[in-house]
Amino acid sequence: AKRVVVFISGGGSNMLALADACAAPDSPAEIVAVISDKAEAAGLAKAKARGIPTFAFERKNYDGKAEHEAAILAALDELQPDILCLAGYMRLISGAFIGRYDGRILNIHPSLLPLFAGLHTHQRAIDAGMKIAGCTVHFVTEGMDEGPIIAQAAVPVLGTDTAEKLAARLLGVEHKLYPLALKLVAEGMVRMEGGRAILSPVAQTSLAD
Ligand code: GAR
Repeated sequence: AKRVVVFISGGGSNMLALADACAAPDSPAEIVAVISDKAEAAGLAKAKARGIPTFAFERKNYDGKAEHEAAILAALDELQPDILCLAGYMRLISGAFIGRYDGRILNIHPSLLPLFAGLHTHQRAIDAGMKIAGCTVHFVTEGMDEGPIIAQAAVPVLGTDTAEKLAARLLGVEHKLYPLALKLVAEGMVRMEGGRAILSPVAQTSLAD
């Protein structure tokens, strides 16, 4: 199976959804570690409870972004991951870092990209009067939330929605979409090429069902 390291900053519910999917006997991917930039991230305890090795690299313990990333890259050299999954990792990764894992870093963002990149996505979707919202799994490139789109899913925006209610409804869909997207990448059904996410014809057929 492909070796996956999941990056988190918070609750880690997407990380758990990935871990659950990867625990299936026929999974093409396995979670080999969870890395957080917050030592107190709730997701770390959840990963540990499942026996997944965890590492915290707090930004404040390093002189600069380059030193912080160097420490993480050194840990990754040991872990030898094939794929990195950002799951609520609230930190921009440098081009140099991405270059080491080009086409092998995935991120989930709680909007229908390219709409509402960045922060406060749920409130911005509500404020724009959107009637649907959604989430996007994409390959990570240097621009924030800009990389090639692998998969998306939509949910309705209700008249009674607050950012919190919409976020909760969306999170349930994220937990289905991210494992699907990881599976596609781990199986080689999707790859990044020429700035696009290329889906194999086999995958296109099964997604259309
Ligand atoms: C998720 O909604 C994820 O899409 C979002 O943070 C949440 C993390 O929740 N990511 C971003 O906003 C990235 N810019 P989780 O820790 O429970 O998975």
